Amino acid sequence: MYSEKVMDHFMNPRNVGELENANAIGQVGNPTCGDIMKIYLDIKDDVIEDVKFKTFGCGAAIATSSMATEMIKGKTVEEALQLTNKAVMNALDGLPPIKVHCSVLAEQAVKAALSDYYTRQGIDPLPIVGEIKEDVH
Ligand code: FES
Repeated sequence: MYSEKVMDHFMNPRNVGELENANAIGQVGNPTCGDIMKIYLDIKDDVIEDVKFKTFGCGAAIATSSMATEMIKGKTVEEALQLTNKAVMNALDGLPPIKVHCSVLAEQAVKAALSDYYTRQGIDPLPIVGEIKEDVH
């Protein structure tokens, strides 16, 4: 069902944990499966110097978070914004169709963190795709 790369990133996820000095944090969740992904970024001079993640979710969610963090580490904010779930899936040699949404969660978590970065810089944030907001009315 899963490629060797997916299994590797699931069994030995890269960049797991939190960053105490993170200057951008993004969290997204999928309402259907209930999985949650949180990404911490340490950005200096527009370059992602460090990144960590915490994912409460399925194996594919963990593997896609791990791969996504590897793909944006050392990149500029602009470059990281180009990350797509398709690129993450390709880097993992594919995912079963039923698990594609897990890679979407990874893309959304990265974008939510980058949006948080822009907000903290006083720049209009990007729309956070997929952010789950509770109705407070
Ligand atoms: Fe929902 Fe994987 S099953 S993120």
